[in-house]
Amino acid sequence: MANATISIGGIVGVVLAIPIIGSLLPPKSSSAGSWSPLSSQELDLLQKATDKPVKLTFTLKFTDAYLPEQSVPEYCWGIKVDPAKFQAARPDIFNQPGGKADVDYPVVTMGFVVFSPICPHLGCYYNWSDAQNRFMCPCHGSQYTFDGTHIAGPAPRGLDPLPLRESNGAAEVTWIIYQSNTPNRIVVSYQA
Ligand code: FES
Repeated sequence: MANATISIGGIVGVVLAIPIIGSLLPPKSSSAGSWSPLSSQELDLLQKATDKPVKLTFTLKFTDAYLPEQSVPEYCWGIKVDPAKFQAARPDIFNQPGGKADVDYPVVTMGFVVFSPICPHLGCYYNWSDAQNRFMCPCHGSQYTFDGTHIAGPAPRGLDPLPLRESNGAAEVTWIIYQSNTPNRIVVSYQA
């Protein structure tokens, strides 16, 4: 009897947990994120850049349930790419049937790719090294080429792209947090 009670309780718990877990998951569409405009001067630099990434700064606005809207300075890394070459260089992104990306937004927009500044290993901010000609993470030594390919250290995937769009002559980016330390890109949230 006691075992039966425990089993029924377990089933009820699972049934209740599914909708609760579902309500915690972020929505699938990238339209769920808010868009932040990038600086036109920095975008001009990116337009002229050939083999160096450009740090693109912006103001990230977000809200939570208890506080008024917050604004924090953020940045992402932009690179100028040939779309076909980029796709060939990053099989960790374009790994779905038909060569589609594992994210639900265009990875290359206006000839640019923007990367989240957060290392896919455990979430530190990495930097670009001119001397080493690569992105380098100070925390555990993961390294990435100009196009975000993972080449050294413990990170399980290459750098994560962020959604970029053109809007009224300006470029805007959406902030996404991806789960750390997984080979696949799993969206954790669309805001900080
Ligand atoms: S967080 Fe970047 S290598 Fe660990």
